Amino acid sequence: MNHIILITGGAGFIGSHLTRLFVNKYPQYKIVNLDKLTYAGNLENLKDIENQPNYTFVKGDITNGDFVNDLFEGYKFTAVLHCAAESHVDRSISDPLAFVRTNVLGTVTLLQIAKEYWKDNLNGKLFYHISTDEVYGSLGNNGFFTEETPYDPRSPYSSSKASSDHFVRAFYHTYNLPVIISNCSNNYGPYHFPEKLIPLCINNILNKKPLPIYGKGENVRDWLFVGDHVQAIDVIFHKGRTGETYNIGGHNEWKNIDIIKELCKQMDEKLGRENGESERLIIFVKDRAGHDMRYAIDATKLKNELGWKPSLQFEEGLSKTIDWYLNNTEWLNHVTSGDYQNYYETQYHKR
Ligand code: NAD
Ligand code: TYD
Repeated sequence: MNHIILITGGAGFIGSHLTRLFVNKYPQYKIVNLDKLTYAGNLENLKDIENQPNYTFVKGDITNGDFVNDLFEGYKFTAVLHCAAESHVDRSISDPLAFVRTNVLGTVTLLQIAKEYWKDNLNGKLFYHISTDEVYGSLGNNGFFTEETPYDPRSPYSSSKASSDHFVRAFYHTYNLPVIISNCSNNYGPYHFPEKLIPLCINNILNKKPLPIYGKGENVRDWLFVGDHVQAIDVIFHKGRTGETYNIGGHNEWKNIDIIKELCKQMDEKLGRENGESERLIIFVKDRAGHDMRYAIDATKLKNELGWKPSLQFEEGLSKTIDWYLNNTEWLNHVTSGDYQNYYETQYHKR
């Protein structure tokens, strides 16, 4: 099948890796990237593919139904890979409505238009919704999130993503819209916006600025290299079963404090700094409100059904990530100029 795919949010972190993978791997597909270019969207992330004949960028907002409808009319999409979202938990605490608008209203707008546009022939169509493990809530010391774990979102971000997941399933059950959802654990890698823990600390280590660890640094996240995430999406997109949910994760749990120590160690080596120099930048700051304690994914279903498993060990993925930032300081300087400084001051000055 020669797909015509609408990727939403393709100028963001995960979206840009996904767009690059599909544009390069499937020259027979046509890929249209619809992105609003919020603070998190950046066309520099896609410089290497912008002139590929099977790729088009369109600037626009997924909540604008007329605009999205015209795109469907014009391009006759056969599939949607829906990545566009407000994605940062701390921002969701300061401005929950922005998350409802894009994550809930935007998703339902896309679903509604896909349903109308595809209703006469659902054959070969797919609405693929990219979601997060945070919808499952917070774990204690034991256990894992499976596809059967009841939803228990606790932040405005995870609540908005949970709501969008529910709408996607509702469109499957109510209107037979062919859908798939995947829920992935924390990603890291190149082009990650430096508001999130790992790229924020890489940037601060480079600039010898404090490394702000929330609370005691004991919260646990399950980290997956972004390249492995988009490989999993590729497999699920092509081989997954319609109406199903797949969890994606790397069995790679780290306490925040340990991850930052590993990052400091690797960066001291790479920057030729004295061992321990960057660790002295660590400061413990006021905890995030409602801070989820632990996330951990059980990705057995994906492994058993579709044969996917992560390709990179964490230390290796982290090393590749640091190297990318060290070789792309211009990118880092661009995205941390202007509005970023205001965000940083507001977010961290009180902590
Ligand atoms: P991101 O914040 O880096 O990128 C989001 C992109 O969406 C940006 O390019 C932004 O401009 C665009 N966008 C935002 N609002 C829009 C709107 N109204 N209309 C059109 N475009 C809009 O996010 P990310 O980290 O790449 O996450 C992508 C998806 O993956 C999200 O749905 C997120 O919930 C999910 N996810 C992320 C992670 C993670 O660790 N980053 C893990 C699991 C799932
Ligand atoms: P983050 O990268 O924001 O991802 P998420 O909240 O979606 O998991 O945060 C990862 C972990 O790092 C989370 O437990 C919060 C913590 N954290 C800090 O300790 N300091 C920081 O400055 C940030 C941004 C996050």
